[in-house]
Amino acid sequence: MNILVIGGGGREHAIAWKLASLQDVSMVYVAPGNGGTQLENKCKNVDIAADDLIKLAKFAKSENIALTVVGPEVPLSLGIVDFFEANGLKTFGPCQMAAQLEASKSFAKDIMASSNIPTAGYKYFEKADAAIDYLKTKTMPIVVKADGLAAGKGVTIAGTLQEAIDAVNDVLVKHIFGQCALKVLIEDFLEGEEVSYLVMTDGDTIIPLAPAQDHKAAYDGDKGPNTGGMGAYSPASIFTDEEYAKLSELVIRPVLSELKKRDITYKGILYAGLMVLNGTGDKLSRVRVLEYNSRFGDPETQVILPRLTSDLARHMMAVVDGKLAEETLTWDNNSVATVVMASGGYPAEYETGLPITGLDGVGANFDIKTNFGVKVFHSGTKFVDSQLLTAGGRVLTVTGMGRDLHEALKNAYATVEQIHFDGALYRSDIGHRAL
Ligand code: AMP
Ligand code: GLY
Repeated sequence: MNILVIGGGGREHAIAWKLASLQDVSMVYVAPGNGGTQLENKCKNVDIAADDLIKLAKFAKSENIALTVVGPEVPLSLGIVDFFEANGLKTFGPCQMAAQLEASKSFAKDIMASSNIPTAGYKYFEKADAAIDYLKTKTMPIVVKADGLAAGKGVTIAGTLQEAIDAVNDVLVKHIFGQCALKVLIEDFLEGEEVSYLVMTDGDTIIPLAPAQDHKAAYDGDKGPNTGGMGAYSPASIFTDEEYAKLSELVIRPVLSELKKRDITYKGILYAGLMVLNGTGDKLSRVRVLEYNSRFGDPETQVILPRLTSDLARHMMAVVDGKLAEETLTWDNNSVATVVMASGGYPAEYETGLPITGLDGVGANFDIKTNFGVKVFHSGTKFVDSQLLTAGGRVLTVTGMGRDLHEALKNAYATVEQIHFDGALYRSDIGHRAL
């Protein structure tokens, strides 16, 4: 069968790589893909933007695509799944209404309130004056969130009242996110440890993916600005297996049920960003949901999918057909860790078009026999003639596999040190909490 993967980041490279490794899969098209998917066995880049739904659907029909997998949130929020299905195309991902769980923080909070999901206290504002009056009654730090998709830049953790006011004005007065965010949510600041919890669901059956942890802060020691993620590892969980299994009843099942009441069936990956509050005693009672994402995480996917030993295409097809109950996901026991190499300056301004060297013969794949070694998933890269260039904030996700986390990290970092582009930024302490 032919598969179409939509997106062009490290997550999509990992999804395409995994699908291409399956015997039943003849070709994986990636739109628009990147320098890494261009080199991948059985993969072909298609020069169509991830939000050009009409061209994508035409392409999928003309190439007899049996399954389309949507990576990023933007096409999901534009309703790509509804549009493709209306055109008779099987598509893995939530419909537009369900994708609002990520695209609209107010929708997500409303669903959480209706289904008694533990989350941070919050209030919404459309007018800056009212928001600022409210801020003056609160203690700092406080969290100001733009209500809409803001490419990971919509959240400010304000340490002072002035910072919080500036964040409110950025959204409601300066409209820095344009029409995408016309409301702000002001949320109580929670202190604890962040955990990603990803499940696959067809709206009824919920299957948790292997546990993974990412590192959101830009610099070592979890310092610096928030990013999309600077590294990740799996397995990793601050929960016991028993707690991990119970999480879906706590933070996923009630959401699916509440959506069902509104005639919305959630299909695809549902990703809950959790904070486990500092404290002692029952961990599950200290879980708060920070957000829902309607897709795989990036870079979590780059450490989760290498460990999957069952058939991803079949699982995804089962989700689309509402038959996930018939599936079993299996995982190998190895550890996988990924280190993001980003452009200097990321997550703020950065330069692109810089040559990347040191990748020849490096990180083409894990060793199939021993399952160890390194695989470099590309995030923001592209070829111009035959030279690989940087083309985004996150450039490469250098992914090591080993018998334990220590070995996985050693493999990843040994390769990071061989790769070069000017200004490359990476964290040297991925996995520190688990080690
Ligand atoms: P969100 O997109 O809502 O997950 O926010 C992005 C990041 O901001 C999260 O991954 C957290 O690191 C941080 N964050 C969001 N909400 C809070 C909160 N209420 N308290 C503390 N940190 C938060
Ligand atoms: N790694 C965080 C995310 O994918 O949203």
